[in-house]
Amino acid sequence: MADLSVEFCGVRFKNPMLVASIEPSNSVNNIKKCIDNGAAGVIVKTVSEMASMSKLTEHSKYAILNEKGKIIRGKVPRNFTFYSRSGYIKEHYEDWIAYLTETQAYAKQHNAHVIGNVSAGSLNMWAELCKMTEDCGVPMIEANLHTPYPTEWAGKYPGTLVAQNPEATYEITRRCVESVDVPVIIKLTPEAIDLTAIAEAAKQAGAAAVSVNSRFKGFATDIETGHPFIGGPAGVGGPWVKPITLRWVHDIYSRLNMEIAGSNGIFDARDAVEFIMSGARVMQVGSVLMLKSIEWLSRIITDLEKFMDAHGYASIDEMYGISSRRAAPSMDELFKASPLQAYIDHDKCKYPKCTTCIENCYYDALNRGDQQVVSKTNNCIGCELCWNLCPWDAIRMGDKDLAESQIQSLLLD
Ligand SMILES: Cc1cc2nc3c(=O)[nH]c(=O)nc-3n(C[C@H](O)[C@H](O)[C@H](O)COP(=O)(O)O)c2cc1C
Ligand code: SF4
Ligand code: SF4
Repeated sequence: MADLSVEFCGVRFKNPMLVASIEPSNSVNNIKKCIDNGAAGVIVKTVSEMASMSKLTEHSKYAILNEKGKIIRGKVPRNFTFYSRSGYIKEHYEDWIAYLTETQAYAKQHNAHVIGNVSAGSLNMWAELCKMTEDCGVPMIEANLHTPYPTEWAGKYPGTLVAQNPEATYEITRRCVESVDVPVIIKLTPEAIDLTAIAEAAKQAGAAAVSVNSRFKGFATDIETGHPFIGGPAGVGGPWVKPITLRWVHDIYSRLNMEIAGSNGIFDARDAVEFIMSGARVMQVGSVLMLKSIEWLSRIITDLEKFMDAHGYASIDEMYGISSRRAAPSMDELFKASPLQAYIDHDKCKYPKCTTCIENCYYDALNRGDQQVVSKTNNCIGCELCWNLCPWDAIRMGDKDLAESQIQSLLLD
């Protein structure tokens, strides 16, 4: 059986699946439930002194949309959009001393960890909350930088979120890191222009890792009523956002070689594998647990183990970053690949009933013939679009200008 355990920021986790800072980690009972369902770590809902963020939570609204942008009721499909608005913890932050202490003790009994998550409205509070959280015994703290600037910086930085600015990220990270001995993870926002530059600032300031990343803000409209869902702009995410998140996981892994907790777009074990192969050491799962219940987590963990066994991976480390390392390092490298050409298997082809490839070749390489599709091989640039679109698997890609016998064996493959 595959070994799912992994080391992240110097701490051993029994598997790479953590629960993200979200409603399923907003109370003692919920955190215990996550641990009961196999979470190796639970990142608590953001602990903060900002009254505005508690008020926001008291007015939380959650809508689930399908791929057409309509409200979903009942079973949540893979391709959901979670459109929601909520803040940080609703209790006073000092109440969390008891909650963190209790849940950390419970986690220890189950070979798991509770991880702090803080966000503050002033520089001193960033430090105070980190210290308070560390004193509760957590092995690491996530600093949620998807948050407004501290009050002291009013007017200093334009914009809205700390993690949109490398200097602000550096200063807050340093403040957090200096205030505690445990590792600090910086949670990035996808609303920054260059997440790698932000991660680099965090690294220089002493961050042990980055979480890549929290959610976008969006706007969704109910066209039947002409009103926006849940009253206006809100956080937005779902499994569809995964490739965008992975772009940054790949970039930060490749350029900074930093420890990464992947978050934003995980639905099942397949997604978790993609995150690991792209360079995330651990994953944070949020929305899907909120919508399909915390029990869904144990299914992700079981399926991850099954995947590894079926594919011969003995450990998470064997999958870690493999896809990122195989990515072409530059366009020049990509261009070195020998040119390909599309070859049509006329026995399988359903022309003239089907004309898909002809309609979708934008290089004038496929045309209508009397009996069959006619290829203008000189025009084919090997883009693979026809190959991907052919509904009858009648196209093969091969080296340019193959001899007739080579084409025949290619089509037989
Ligand atoms: C309803 C909701 C509440 C969230 N609250 C917090 C929070 O308090 N602190 C935080 O750092 N991230 C928060 N997040 C972001 C999640 O931790 C996570 O990074 C994000 O949802 C992406 O992961 P997912 O695709 O698995 O949901 C919240 C997300 C949602 C959907
Ligand atoms: S898409 Fe496939 S089946 Fe359709 S015409 Fe092209 S090769 Fe033939
Ligand atoms: S590979 Fe691209 S260019 Fe070549 S025939 Fe297919 S669609 Fe046209």
